[in-house]
Amino acid sequence: MPDLIMKPKGTNDVLPGESYRWHYIESILRKTAEDFGYREIRFPAFEYTELFVRGVGDTTDVVQKEMFTFTDRGGRSITLRPEGTASVVRSFLENSLYGAGLPVKCYYIVPNFRGEQPQAGRYREFHQFGVEYLGSPCPSADAEVIGIYTVILERLGIKNIRLNINSIGCPKCRPNYHAALKSYFDSRKSELCGTCLGRMEKNPMRILDCKSPVCKKIAADSPVVLDFLCDECREHFENTKAMLDAMDIKYSIDPQIVRGLDYYTKTVFEFVSSDLGAQSTVCGGGRYDGLVETLGGQPTPGLGFASGLERLMMIMDAQGIIIPEPGRCSIFIAALGEKADMPVQKLVHDLRRMGVQAERDTAGRGLKAQMKYADRLGASYSMVIGDNELGEGKAKIKDMSTGGQFECLLTAEDIKKAIM
Ligand code: HAM
Repeated sequence: MPDLIMKPKGTNDVLPGESYRWHYIESILRKTAEDFGYREIRFPAFEYTELFVRGVGDTTDVVQKEMFTFTDRGGRSITLRPEGTASVVRSFLENSLYGAGLPVKCYYIVPNFRGEQPQAGRYREFHQFGVEYLGSPCPSADAEVIGIYTVILERLGIKNIRLNINSIGCPKCRPNYHAALKSYFDSRKSELCGTCLGRMEKNPMRILDCKSPVCKKIAADSPVVLDFLCDECREHFENTKAMLDAMDIKYSIDPQIVRGLDYYTKTVFEFVSSDLGAQSTVCGGGRYDGLVETLGGQPTPGLGFASGLERLMMIMDAQGIIIPEPGRCSIFIAALGEKADMPVQKLVHDLRRMGVQAERDTAGRGLKAQMKYADRLGASYSMVIGDNELGEGKAKIKDMSTGGQFECLLTAEDIKKAIM
């Protein structure tokens, strides 16, 4: 026999017995986004590599170390999507979505691909729910976007999540901060990892989210971005906090948050959970007021967040949140003898057409084995049709939980009426 082929490292199967958990979470994510006026956007799972190099930034871990990039048959460099924001902005520009007026508010639920070292909560294929809000510079937009996620947590029944926020300034104030960081890291140069040494000149802020423990330790004592904000950024941050206060949304200020992607400006935020272990961030986002321009559009402010579905599910499991299981088999119809085979096939088909979860045996089992199968399916009702029942045009329906029986005609309409 040939060897079994296994799934690639860092990927997961969602099995038939657990997909209802995904549907449940996705339905709450969709409903909440739509309650806030966001509409779904869908975009390709791969894009030209240049989109992420330019959008996400060529000094980020994502671009430098984690992208699944290949050359297609036409010689173009293609990358499997590592995140959704760059694609949304690409689509916003390519389809002139701004033409119908701003803001444009959209959400997505998509798989992403990053070649990271897999561990609990960190995969090479993972799923994100994200929202993007294009066209508003106002703190009310920051507060709205953060507010969406707090409602999602509430609706999923998730507790003990902390919201940390920060402001990382804009192109006006960032150079001063970069200069301060550069001179600080210069003094510790000999201890930094090779990647961070390379980042010193081009983008010293990237050193702040290096995963190496040594760099992390050095970064902990580095100058704090909040001390370098220009008046506009400081005011934006103050007003965003005031909006959150007005909405009763609790947060902490964490000046260490810089986020791992280059497009962020002003507000950045993360929702963290102690139920996640090392990968404690369940949701991250912020403003990206320069991204639309970077990708070739007119200056248009934007912001958003994305949350990992696998991490949401891990938290729900850790907190013992029960996800309601969908209804199982409503009625199992057993065929006794050859003559019943076709009438049972038709009845089951008609019931299914009418929206009833009906089942029958399709493996040629005897009656006893058929009833065992009905038990395994968790059928609420069962029915046996043999020569006698066919002759009389009626049969007994058995309530599998009480054992009680009642009679019914052998039509799909009658059976449905009897059991619903
Ligand atoms: P991100 O921080 O790279 O941001 O990812 C957001 C979330 O996706 C993380 O907090 C985590 O829940 C999940 N995630 C990321 N990488 C993995 C992984 N390897 N395995 C499992 N889950 C993962 C972004 O992607 C931005 N595009 C978010 C955004 C949208 N900012 C503005 N708009």
